Amino acid sequence: MITFILPLFGRFHPILVHLPIGFIVFGVILIFGFGRKHHIHSQVIQLAFLMGGVSAGVASISGFLHYQNEGYSWDTVMFHLILGILTTLLSGGLWFHLKNSVVAPPHLKIKSAGLLVVLMITGHLGGTITHGDDYFTEVLPPDLQALIGNEATANQPLELPMENWEEVEFYSGAIQPILDQNCKSCHNPKKLKGELDLSSFAGIHKGGEAGEILENGNPEQSSLYTRLVLPEDHDDHMPPKDKRQPRKEEIGLIKAWIASGASESAKLGESAINVSLIEPFFKKDEIPFYPVVEVPTLPQDSISKLKELNFFAEAIKMGSPFLKISCVNFPAFSDTDWQILQSSKNQIVYLDLTGTAISDALLERIASLPNLTVLKLNNTSIEGSSLGKLEANKNLKLLYLNETLVTQRNLSALDGHPSLEKVFAFDTKVDASGSSRFSFYLETGNVSLPPLPTDTIVF
Ligand code: HEC
Repeated sequence: MITFILPLFGRFHPILVHLPIGFIVFGVILIFGFGRKHHIHSQVIQLAFLMGGVSAGVASISGFLHYQNEGYSWDTVMFHLILGILTTLLSGGLWFHLKNSVVAPPHLKIKSAGLLVVLMITGHLGGTITHGDDYFTEVLPPDLQALIGNEATANQPLELPMENWEEVEFYSGAIQPILDQNCKSCHNPKKLKGELDLSSFAGIHKGGEAGEILENGNPEQSSLYTRLVLPEDHDDHMPPKDKRQPRKEEIGLIKAWIASGASESAKLGESAINVSLIEPFFKKDEIPFYPVVEVPTLPQDSISKLKELNFFAEAIKMGSPFLKISCVNFPAFSDTDWQILQSSKNQIVYLDLTGTAISDALLERIASLPNLTVLKLNNTSIEGSSLGKLEANKNLKLLYLNETLVTQRNLSALDGHPSLEKVFAFDTKVDASGSSRFSFYLETGNVSLPPLPTDTIVF
């Protein structure tokens, strides 16, 4: 007998399985749609289950051949195969039952629904064999995966802690996550492409159909590495062309791991690895710039009102209650107008009073903005006599005093401010040479900046 026939028929299994699904679902729809009517014996319903049974039988046989020829383990396919045969028998049985009943058989809906359930479980088990247990969960957001108890690591890009990366195990903490993300979908115990399982240390060391894939200490002789760096259109390139490719930094780590002896338990710190290979994987702890506090969102009409009064007023980003307020179009703003801003004092995190008619006395009012983070007082006539009041703005990080009458002495009142990071004092009497004395970083740059187009933009 021509030897390719059976394996070829086996490979038709993933296509053939759709026939019983179609026939049986169709039959069940007919029973539920027309069950009460006299059509119940209609030959169409009988035919649906007859064809369902026959096609399920053919699919089961091709599935068995597929299992025999493609190296699936019996444990993996056992339940799928048993339920496939059960589907065949139940569908055939239902056909026989309908064909030989003079009146509508009792509980027909329940029986057909039972068949449908068996069919669905069979299909699900089959899908799990080809696509893996995590086929559906893999694409869920990590939070949701954690909720259903799924290890969300499988599909996460590798991240290493900046603080103590030396303590991370090279293999389990870096290499396996890279293989999980890029290779496991094809190289796992259920789906052994190239007879290679890359989901465990034992699997990696066992190698594939061409033997070992790893020569300790010698990446250039290890197909685990060399296949990754072949040109992408080379037949042996891994992962196959058009599939998700590992980052070059990840390939670099695999190379370094093999070069360092491919140990299972050694730590990153013990492998004499260059930190530049690790750096790209450092977690970036994002320190939020604006305060992390809950404040109510200002009603839209309050914001509209501010805009009518010529303020520029916008949320710092979509959905945030925090506001950026600017007086670019309101140069006449003076101390007496402060009252208008009072109702949004918790929301203002960015306040630009550049070029307005304010006086030093206003600083006392500004001090009442608990979340203020950026304050711009450029090009005003303030001298800074009340700058010390800003001590109360516990979230202030950036202060702009360019082109003001602020003096060195007045500025020193802010020395030791709890959050202030940087003060800009271009074109003032402040002297940069003394800047190291302050707790914040001082920019005075004795250069005059060319005007930027954005300086005069009207929002
Ligand atoms: C889309 C499926 C797929 C993915 C993803 C994939 N491979 Fe493969 N791999 C195969 C197939 C198919 C073969 C067998 C054909 C061949 O040898 O080229 C194979 C063979 C191999 C072999 C040779 C095994 C042997 O002994 O013949 C190595 C080594 C290998 N893959 C490494 C990897 C690595 C490392 C990754 C991840 C970075 C990866 N593969 C990702 C499908 C895949």
